[in-house]
Amino acid sequence: MGEMHEIAIDETLPKPELYRQLCEAADALTAGERDPIANMANVAALMWQYLPRINWAGFYRVDPAVDKGELVLGPFAGKPACIRIPFGQGVCGTAAAGGKTQLVEDVHAFPGHIACDAASNSEVVVPIFRDGRVIAVIDIDSPETGRFDAEDAAGVEALAARIATRI
Ligand code: SME
Repeated sequence: MGEMHEIAIDETLPKPELYRQLCEAADALTAGERDPIANMANVAALMWQYLPRINWAGFYRVDPAVDKGELVLGPFAGKPACIRIPFGQGVCGTAAAGGKTQLVEDVHAFPGHIACDAASNSEVVVPIFRDGRVIAVIDIDSPETGRFDAEDAAGVEALAARIATRI
């Protein structure tokens, strides 16, 4: 199917409304497709296009072949990134191990932060759950210190919940 998706989101909207529209667009883009890579790729592209002042947006997936817990790079937009992150390491590994959103105002103050792009100064990482387990995380980075707040965390959590069964 070569169906085109026309999506227009005003990125100057207040955050709750911006994320609501982003969730709707992600829902529409992933509804008819069962391939997880295709769905994550389109959601990464959506975040990249509509979230202002960011330099990386994408997914790390839990690698089921690694017993002690490890994330492996998934679809994203931005510069090439670290491929594997053990549970408990860096911001992504902390979110995955504890199953908790990490809102980091200044990544340089986060113990064990993994710097993939030196331009990153703040970051939000949200775990994605399926059947009660973390299956992936969404990671968004910004060159601006303190770029992400509780509204971003809530918005990305809503997005994660919306696509959890489609990735
Ligand atoms: N900063 C992350 C690593 C991933 S990248 O920034 C894309 C971390 O500390 O987990």
